Amino acid sequence: MKIAIDGPAASGKTSLGRALAERFGCRFIETGKMYRAVALGLARGLSLDRIVIDVAEPERFLLNGEDVTDLLHTPELDQASSEAGTRPEVRARLVALQQRIAADIDVVMEGRDIGTVVLPDADVKIFLRASPDVRARRRVDQRPGAEVGRTLRELLVRDRRDSTRAIAPLNPASDATIIDTDRKTLAEVISEAVDLVKERLLEH
Ligand code: C5P
Repeated sequence: MKIAIDGPAASGKTSLGRALAERFGCRFIETGKMYRAVALGLARGLSLDRIVIDVAEPERFLLNGEDVTDLLHTPELDQASSEAGTRPEVRARLVALQQRIAADIDVVMEGRDIGTVVLPDADVKIFLRASPDVRARRRVDQRPGAEVGRTLRELLVRDRRDSTRAIAPLNPASDATIIDTDRKTLAEVISEAVDLVKERLLEH
């Protein structure tokens, strides 16, 4: 089974994805961390052709063999990863890696283009929406010390870049189920998504 979750930054994709992966016994892959690891490599002065990204279990991301998972969630890499994501050669390499990983396993994969580009035949496609204010508040809760106004401005810059880039812009797949999470708790969103997956499993 393949489950694709897409949506803008801080819309709740990771919390939902982890919960679904655990519930249905799938591997969970957060593709944004791959873009972040590429951006870290570029920030360290490596050229793209010298950057090799790998994913190890459980949820560890390797840059040229070094586990960089715990270095990836910084405001600098928020922006640098979305800039890296506008480069066609970066996307081509990461999409190929994501498709290779997902090929023979049950997987929940989350990102921006999973339902549209990476796994167009996914069994379940979910697109999460949430207003910028709600997303900024959620991000601040995850990052103690972050300030709401600045976080909101940075999210809006990323939103614009993610949805206007020439290649694989952020869009729901035509067959995705859209869940608006603004007025829902995480538990409610998970329960709605679990029902959706169960329905699909019964259809097969
Ligand atoms: O999901 P996360 O915020 O960690 O992703 C970091 C950046 O990587 C995003 O802002 C987006 O520009 C890029 N990205 C992407 N395609 C994906 C996952 C992430 O372009 N599938």
